[in-house]
Amino acid sequence: MLGLLLILFLAPFHVLTLPSSFSFPADQLVLQSVGNPAIETEAAAAPSPIQLIYQFKDIVALENLAVRSNGHLVLTASNQPNVYDMNPNARNAPPKPLPRIPGVTSLTGIVETAPDVFAVVAGNWSATFQGTPGSFSIWSVDFNPSQPTVKRIASIPEADALNGITSLKGSPDIVLFADSALGAVRWLNVTSGEYNVTIQSPLFTNTSQIPIGINGIRTYDGHLYYLNSAQMTYGRVPLNVDGRGVAGEVQILARTHLPAIFDDFDMDWEGNAWVATHSNMLGQITVEGKQRNMTGSGNTELVEPTSVQFGRGSKQLEKTIYMTAAGNGKVGGQVLAINSCLM
Ligand SMILES: *[C@@H]1O[C@H](CO)[C@@H](O)[C@H](O)[C@H]1NC(C)=O
Ligand SMILES: *[C@@H]1O[C@H](CO)[C@@H](O)[C@H](O)[C@H]1NC(C)=O
Ligand SMILES: *[C@@H]1O[C@H](CO)[C@@H](O)[C@H](O)[C@H]1NC(C)=O
Ligand SMILES: *[C@@H]1O[C@H](CO)[C@@H](O)[C@H](O)[C@H]1NC(C)=O
Ligand SMILES: *[C@@H]1O[C@H](CO)[C@@H](O)[C@H](O)[C@H]1NC(C)=O
Repeated sequence: MLGLLLILFLAPFHVLTLPSSFSFPADQLVLQSVGNPAIETEAAAAPSPIQLIYQFKDIVALENLAVRSNGHLVLTASNQPNVYDMNPNARNAPPKPLPRIPGVTSLTGIVETAPDVFAVVAGNWSATFQGTPGSFSIWSVDFNPSQPTVKRIASIPEADALNGITSLKGSPDIVLFADSALGAVRWLNVTSGEYNVTIQSPLFTNTSQIPIGINGIRTYDGHLYYLNSAQMTYGRVPLNVDGRGVAGEVQILARTHLPAIFDDFDMDWEGNAWVATHSNMLGQITVEGKQRNMTGSGNTELVEPTSVQFGRGSKQLEKTIYMTAAGNGKVGGQVLAINSCLM
């Protein structure tokens, strides 16, 4: 969650238009390009690693995504109460809105909890990107019935600003979700609706400048990895086996600085984080904590990237990165596909 935040907080860095043909200075070309750089610069002939596959015409501030087993994307938006189902291979086919989640204005994190069943974070956010305390709940979206259904799993009245959500390997009942204002990660049993705090830490809180602290979260190799937008940090903490507590200290692995602001991310098979970074960057943080700008050159301008998710279904798709971008007051939300093999 940080979709349109930069309009409010970082206006000077914000690109407000989407030029029809856009090129980056040669000295900012992709850092990890393979092969002959002379070929890379012949942009017209070489396929760009970043492809825009859909852009909403309206202001749909895309916020997060999950990938279904059939390859479709499930999209959330911070200014819509419904998820969208999208076939990324049907070029320019509008994503299909699912039934609304009642009583809320925004959806943030999303994660699969059972085959074709997703847990979605719902709540209200103000125009200045502060969560409305007491408005948050976790819902399930089930694609198994012929007409997908939405159902409340649990209200979380203690929460102030719920944002990213993730699953826990080996515990299909359990999801973990981040509170960007209280600096907490809670666990939820999606079957029983029981929940409680896994960890609350000053390293997860927001700041007076940026109201969103801990944002994207993922589990990998027994750890919870997180991005904190306000503190501009990436780090991790070892988890208990059941995810209901931690087994060590929070460790900061990387820091960024303005104008780059971390949002949400996905881990690749080696444990590198691929990071949706405001206002226009795809970043990578390696296992060693080294940061790279993977945006590269191309005709697609990223407008407020919000989240990243690897594809599924084939070897090729597992190396495809899908990205959501919120857009801004002029550009609608974007869905991008990135061939990480070209990077
Ligand atoms: C990342 O690279 C892109 C493309 O070269 C560039 O437009 C952007 O400013 C870079 N971002 C940062 C934070 O360096
Ligand atoms: C959240 O927003 C909806 C729609 O505007 C409103 O009906 C509801 O009362 C709000 N909830 C809270 C807790 O403020
Ligand atoms: C989650 O709740 C269900 C239903 O109460 C229970 O059977 C299951 O053991 C719980 N899962 C965990 C990991 O505690
Ligand atoms: C949540 O955890 C706290 C601290 O361990 C405990 O005191 C409290 O009873 C728990 N709440 C529930 C509903 O289990
Ligand atoms: C974090 O954001 C909340 C609003 O969601 C705000 O009330 C609080 O003061 C912020 N925390 C800090 C440390 O500025």
